[in-house]
Amino acid sequence: MNLKKMAALRAVDEIGDGDVVGLGTGSTTHYFIEELGRRVREEGLEVMGVPTSYQSMFLAVESGIAITSLAEHDVDVAVDGADEVDPELNLVKGGGAAHTLEKIVDSSAERFIVIVDESKLVERLGAFPLPVEVIPAACRPVKLRIESMGASVTIRSSEGKDGPVVTDNGNFVLDASFGVIDDPAAMESLLNNIPGVVENGIFAGIADMVIAGTSDGVRILR
Ligand code: A5P
Repeated sequence: MNLKKMAALRAVDEIGDGDVVGLGTGSTTHYFIEELGRRVREEGLEVMGVPTSYQSMFLAVESGIAITSLAEHDVDVAVDGADEVDPELNLVKGGGAAHTLEKIVDSSAERFIVIVDESKLVERLGAFPLPVEVIPAACRPVKLRIESMGASVTIRSSEGKDGPVVTDNGNFVLDASFGVIDDPAAMESLLNNIPGVVENGIFAGIADMVIAGTSDGVRILR
């Protein structure tokens, strides 16, 4: 079986009747949302979803999952993918430029479950360029500031549109390659302190459980 799908199907077992579920973004959560929707339609599971992007909102609606928001409900459990996961369950996210709303929803949840295939499990964070969402007017100064911290930085380009990626929030994304990130929590705060930065893709210390699809079966990290 596809290893992302293996992790996603296992995560659906963590969802109970009546749960408000944070719906992450990306190819791994795609499988999760589809399977959650199937259980809603075929088994009468009663849940509401809080999407983290237009992508997950459209898929949830198509799948038959009732949608709600943080304005109306607290999230019982959030399920989301990741680009890197270290042994302390610190994450890099934002490969799909959805990390700002993902961090708001995932960090507000009573339980935050990460679903990945084994390729995302790393000893140290940093091989994946770190996404940083910025207010467009601040793009150049923020880029220079992050470069002065030792990273090489690119403005993420769009596909299907000329020019930069524009996030669901109307902002740009910088991808910052620092190499190994020694202290993820410190780096997360440092970047978010730069004026014009909306949110960066380090999720330090908020994941409760990681479900990894591996060639030997599902592996759970807590
Ligand atoms: C979206 O911005 C990201 O945080 C994704 O959750 C992350 O990139 C994982 O994506 P895949 O499940 O597609 O690998």
